[in-house]
Amino acid sequence: MSTATASRSTPHSRKPTVTDQKMFIGGRWVDSVSGQTFETHDPSTGEVICRVAEGDAADVDLAVQAARRAFESGPWPQKSAAERGRLLHRLADLIEQHHKELAALETLDNGKPYAVALAADLPLAIKCYRYYAGWADKIHGKTIPIEGPYFCYTRHEPVGVVGQIIPWNFPILMQAWKLAPALAAGCTIVLKPAEQTPLTALRVAELAQEAGIPDGVLNVVPGFGPTAGAAIAAHPDIDKVAFTGSGEVGRLVMAAAARSNLKRVSLELGGKSPNIVFADADLDAAVQGAYDGLFFNQGQCCCAGSRLFVEEKIHAEFVARLVEKAKKQKLGDPFDLATTQGPQVSQEQLDRILGYIQSGREAGAHLLCGGHRVGERGYFIAPTIFDNVTDDMKIAEEEIFGPVMSVLPFRDVEEVIARGNKTFYGLAAAVWTRDVSQAFRVANSLRTGTVWVNCFDVFDAAAPFGGFKQSGIGRELGEYALSLYSEVKTVTVSL
Ligand code: NAI
Ligand code: MG
Repeated sequence: MSTATASRSTPHSRKPTVTDQKMFIGGRWVDSVSGQTFETHDPSTGEVICRVAEGDAADVDLAVQAARRAFESGPWPQKSAAERGRLLHRLADLIEQHHKELAALETLDNGKPYAVALAADLPLAIKCYRYYAGWADKIHGKTIPIEGPYFCYTRHEPVGVVGQIIPWNFPILMQAWKLAPALAAGCTIVLKPAEQTPLTALRVAELAQEAGIPDGVLNVVPGFGPTAGAAIAAHPDIDKVAFTGSGEVGRLVMAAAARSNLKRVSLELGGKSPNIVFADADLDAAVQGAYDGLFFNQGQCCCAGSRLFVEEKIHAEFVARLVEKAKKQKLGDPFDLATTQGPQVSQEQLDRILGYIQSGREAGAHLLCGGHRVGERGYFIAPTIFDNVTDDMKIAEEEIFGPVMSVLPFRDVEEVIARGNKTFYGLAAAVWTRDVSQAFRVANSLRTGTVWVNCFDVFDAAAPFGGFKQSGIGRELGEYALSLYSEVKTVTVSL
């Protein structure tokens, strides 16, 4: 084993026990129409945590009916915008009060280190709810000086019933990114958590009810993609679908939306983000940023800096320092507070990542460290670094979504901009340099939705995030996300 295992004597957080879960429709906890349930697993052991009600088309339909009633005739449309904001703040307060419980639940279901869930996922989710709580009573239109004796104004009205399909890599945070702006805008929601990680979404639904969010406004239907997820994408009475996940499924969602009722579609579909390090960069910061930019969250990040371009002059020293860091990574029980890397989320993801590692070896990339599974229990993979990767290798082209770094040496700025853009993805990028004009030049030339300069993974609820090209459609977070959940109405009055 090339990687340290976290010591058993370090402090541990307690692993929660969880009972079987129902689904949340119209403010009630119900079994699925079919009576079916599915297992959710602890990825650090592969053991079953509990069984969860398995939603399918019939359950989605009930949830849509509840959401439609709540949108049209329930107490939701009667609530003032300020009151919606107040409820969102109450939900943020409750999540904050229960942040340790929720972080533990996230760790249990997803495998991410508890210390990380507590330090990153929970605070970011709470801030997201608070940010949109502040927006609720500031969503307004304009008065427009059109020609003639008319008074013309716009209203930003909620788009209606919204379907939200979320992934397993940041379950509680992705729920916040979708739920908070939709609630602020006045929509009602049918949300499907990923089948790998349904637990925190269900607990947040319970807290939303406790916060006073009226029945039917938020419905959570756990289940699988091709059944419950597909039913959301195809439902004729859902006005908008928001999806985060693979490009393959993003296409299916868009096609189903087109076929059913032209519901609005927003997609966040991952990437192959270039992280570019010039020789003049602050190397300590760049090594740390390059390392975390790929290995954070077990490499399961849509914006992972998975193509690390390093200028030739510093390449040898740079990769040596990366390998040093990889050796210090502590894999193990995610409830052990010394653990820095947990398991991948599932057997399926483990197999997929090992397949990419195999393809890197076969293509002739130079394996510097890792490259194998760790242990036989749980889905752990040693931090893996491939050097001298070329643009045409599969590991440089496709999203791996695991702890596998590809280093691609480069010579000059022209070359690296062209190579950075040589991908159908366009989610994020980063550049490390002390030369200000070079930083701006690269930032402006990369066709990506986000560019970080001398930093990586800096997220804030106020800063929009989303993709160019095949990385998606639309922007989450910030003021921009409100447009995903509203329609503009133009009213013209004859004077
Ligand atoms: P996926 O795209 O299948 O799953 C994401 C969500 O979509 C889940 O809630 C799933 O139940 C749902 N879904 C699946 N099939 C569906 C369908 N036909 N209609 C509607 N909803 C459907 O992703 P998966 O299989 O979990 O992971 C595969 C790869 O996707 C990963 O290796 C990674 O490359 C990428 N991915 C990207 C994410 C991102 O943050 N952009 C998040 C998760 C996965
Ligand atoms: Mg899938």
